[in-house]
Amino acid sequence: MQRYHEFLEEVLIPEETLQQRIAELGGEISRDYEGRQLHLICILRGGVVFLADLIRHLTIPNTIDFMAVTSYGVGARQTTGKVRITFDLQQDIFDLDCLLVEDIVDSGYTIATVLEFLRTRHPRSLKVCTLLDKAERREIQVPIDYCGFVIPDKFVFGYGLDLDELYRNLPFIGTVNPERYKPAE
Ligand code: IMP
Ligand code: MG
Repeated sequence: MQRYHEFLEEVLIPEETLQQRIAELGGEISRDYEGRQLHLICILRGGVVFLADLIRHLTIPNTIDFMAVTSYGVGARQTTGKVRITFDLQQDIFDLDCLLVEDIVDSGYTIATVLEFLRTRHPRSLKVCTLLDKAERREIQVPIDYCGFVIPDKFVFGYGLDLDELYRNLPFIGTVNPERYKPAE
């Protein structure tokens, strides 16, 4: 495995900035759902690190569940617009206040597909919280209720986001220098 220092272009969002903003989001969400219980739905695998930090800033009762979708092949950097649900929720969401937790909204196809899928199950409410928004790449409009950071159109990694499944554990968000990055054979 290549050491990330070799292809890191810049640290786009340092750890402290991420943690500060996530604490703010947790506070905002807790105020908005005051007096209610919130069901957080995390999209695997990229959203896991964000979810884990976010829930520790919630002051309202909450439950979590997970689902997985695929939209990219390994090595592919463009969305196909075709999103498949590969792992479904374990709990029924009928009549629950749900918040979808995502790492990044890029073209918007993933969130659009997941929202459509979840609405058929009639949650009481359904909102979207994304850590990152690559707004200029949007191909399909999706509602974003909570957003950590709007970022430029650059491929990023770390803090849950992978490069060919690696580097999710890094505590910051970095951008990739594509000339220096060598995907494993
Ligand atoms: P969308 O369907 O195009 O909005 O893509 C969303 C998904 O693509 C995210 O959940 C990520 O898994 C992946 N993705 C998009 N941009 C990046 C990136 O810069 N780094 C890592 N993963 C990304
Ligand atoms: Mg993802």
